[in-house]
Amino acid sequence: MSRVLLFTGKGGVGKTTAAAATATLAARSGRKTLVVSTDTAHSLADALGAAAGDEPTEVSPGLYLHQVDTQKALELQWGDLRDYARGLFTELGLDEVTAEEITVLPGAEELIALLELRDQARSGRWDVIVIDCAPTAETLRLLALPEALDWHVNRLLPVGRRLLRTFSPLVRRVAQVSVPEEHVIGAGERLHRGLMEVRELLTGPDASVRLVLTPEAVVLAEARRTLTSLSLYGYRVDAVIANRVFPAGGADPWRQRWVAAQATHLAEVERSFAPLPIHTVPYLDAEPVGPAALAQVAETMYGETDPFAPPAGDPPLRITPEGELILALPLAEKSEVDLARKGDELIVNAGSYRRVLALPAALARRSVRGAVLRDGFLRVRFQTGGPDD
Ligand SMILES: Nc1ncnc2c1ncn2[C@@H]1O[C@H](COP(=O)(O)OP(=O)(O)OP(=O)(O)O)[C@@H](O)[C@H]1O
Ligand SMILES: [Mg+2]
Repeated sequence: MSRVLLFTGKGGVGKTTAAAATATLAARSGRKTLVVSTDTAHSLADALGAAAGDEPTEVSPGLYLHQVDTQKALELQWGDLRDYARGLFTELGLDEVTAEEITVLPGAEELIALLELRDQARSGRWDVIVIDCAPTAETLRLLALPEALDWHVNRLLPVGRRLLRTFSPLVRRVAQVSVPEEHVIGAGERLHRGLMEVRELLTGPDASVRLVLTPEAVVLAEARRTLTSLSLYGYRVDAVIANRVFPAGGADPWRQRWVAAQATHLAEVERSFAPLPIHTVPYLDAEPVGPAALAQVAETMYGETDPFAPPAGDPPLRITPEGELILALPLAEKSEVDLARKGDELIVNAGSYRRVLALPAALARRSVRGAVLRDGFLRVRFQTGGPDD
């Protein structure tokens, strides 16, 4: 299995740089490495100082860059769905929708890139796969959508509706208009399965997310929320990268004020994210572009630690042999967490994020006895024995 590393964080904090640096280090240590971007801007290629192809291209020894051409992937893989959606829009009297417009649906491009990535992961070709994600993990949260829909897709909805439920909320709204044909349903199911598999890969035991931030109040506040939501959706976060840290020293008052402000925020970063390791990268005197500069960044960033070790500790969601469901919700406040039970599903809200969790068969028929949020863990206890006891 490939070790999968995802990098996310607020816009502009250094996600692409951290991803490119980590990938460079992986390749230099003899691991066959693929670095992928879910971002349509070509900044990953720019950071690596290389040109990207739409197939994995070797940009330095052992390091392959894949810039997914989402338009092409959409045409090739999901043409049936596109044609169907286009037909629906026409029926509704809307102007004909082009493939370009469909990919404008929120997150669609990132999801397509992730679907392509799944094929790479399956190929068994890579020791390490590094993913430069969209800001603030939006896409990763989007991947929870198929999980939420899975139960309905499999058991509730008549076949014709499955696709519509899966493909996008936009198409769902017009579900009554046209019944999709067989091949379209097939494509819809394939998409649904594909998204589920991507999610399994990214939440699996060989994958982890690294949260990139800069020591600034606004960035930190967002990183804290991202940590909670990633955990809610089942992603492991295994490190925080504090980028653009001003080196102390120098008599310039402007710099001293920045150093002091950052020191305060860094202390807060340590408090917020403990026990996660915090890797710091100094504010360099030039943009770290190209393999040599990136390798240097990676060495500073990881120091003596092994960035490619398997993620340690428990996954965010687990069920104990006693039938207690434990979900890590680091940094979540009691007042913003609540819980509801609906049939076989447990609905967990944390702030503005919601996860619809399909309960495993062992718990699905038991009622909830109680739940507590303590030390960053939500513990849900279920009635022992069946409902008839
Ligand atoms: N430690 C650093 N010192 C100096 N420059 C840096 C450092 N880290 C990143 N940069 C530069 O800052 C800019 C933004 O970094 P980067 O592209 O990695 O951020 P990003 O989080 O990927 O941004 P986006 O949200 O737009 O994708 C780039 O020009 C990069 O070279
Ligand atoms: Mg970027």
